[in-house]
Amino acid sequence: MIVVTGATGTVGGHVARLLSAHHPTRVLGRSRGRLREAAPGADAVGADFADRRSLERALDGARALFVVTTDPSRPDHDENLLAAARTAGVEHVVKLSALAVTDEGATDLITAWQRENEERVRACGLAWTILRPRSFMSNTLSWAESIRASGAVLTPQPHSRNASVDPRDVAEAAVVALTAPGHGQRHYALTGPEPISPAEQCEHLAEVLARPVRCCEIPLERAYLSWARRYPEPIAQALLDSARRQGEGAKQHVDPAVEKLLGRPARSYRDWAKDHAERFG
Ligand SMILES: NC(=O)c1ccc[n+]([C@@H]2O[C@H](COP(=O)([O-])OP(=O)(O)OC[C@H]3O[C@@H](n4cnc5c(N)ncnc54)[C@H](OP(=O)(O)O)[C@@H]3O)[C@@H](O)[C@H]2O)c1
Repeated sequence: MIVVTGATGTVGGHVARLLSAHHPTRVLGRSRGRLREAAPGADAVGADFADRRSLERALDGARALFVVTTDPSRPDHDENLLAAARTAGVEHVVKLSALAVTDEGATDLITAWQRENEERVRACGLAWTILRPRSFMSNTLSWAESIRASGAVLTPQPHSRNASVDPRDVAEAAVVALTAPGHGQRHYALTGPEPISPAEQCEHLAEVLARPVRCCEIPLERAYLSWARRYPEPIAQALLDSARRQGEGAKQHVDPAVEKLLGRPARSYRDWAKDHAERFG
């Protein structure tokens, strides 16, 4: 039995659907209804990262665990998952981290939290695999409303490049790590096939949608104010630091791990855009 967390979210959802087609799979989360909708082929169990006992029950009989957590103010979530995994006799933990942990200049809250999460995983006494993706291509879904409404994207640093990765490739890499031998005590840097800028992403979207998509630059300070309206201040600050690093070229490196793990090239942004065109109206 393989247990998947985050199955109502982006990467965990793909992982659960891929796994459940071939392996006994359980999805763990706060709403069984949402889990059943997201991963109909998996066994859905209610549990909360804040409640260790609920995690122990959900992990009963599990051989492997896929860990996705999202709240940098809650280090107890990863601690609880690892403690419950040990109690339940889980053999292998695959952890979704972030490639920023390898950037020396990355000292923001989210990256520091992921570094600590990785430390916990490496020290947990179980077999582990740490996946370190670059930014998800699906982050550009946040442009969909503005593209539908005005055919325009407002973004800071439109010509800064990021080797962003298709979350479906991240999920396929997770499935390999969870099911095939030889991936214990390994870190994998997961990137797309090339660094790409917001302006270039808009060009691909325009081609796929067969209508213009303008890419309009806004100052970083304005982007920060919009993040600060949506997120707590430390998260908005972390996003600002991250955007600055992208502007300095820190996120352009392409790693061959996706191709080596999956035996085919990483999906391009154009592939992603074609497959999600309907989301942009
Ligand atoms: N976005 C990027 O560009 C990027 C890049 C690199 C790394 N990452 C890393 O990727 C991870 C996020 O992955 P994602 O985008 O696939 O996640 P996501 O779509 O935001 O989904 C988060 C999942 O966590 C579940 N969850 C949240 N709190 C929970 C709790 N207390 N108990 C049980 N389940 C809980 C949610 O379930 P419910 O809400 O349904 O309960 C949901 O399924 C983060 O660790 C992030 O640092 C992201």
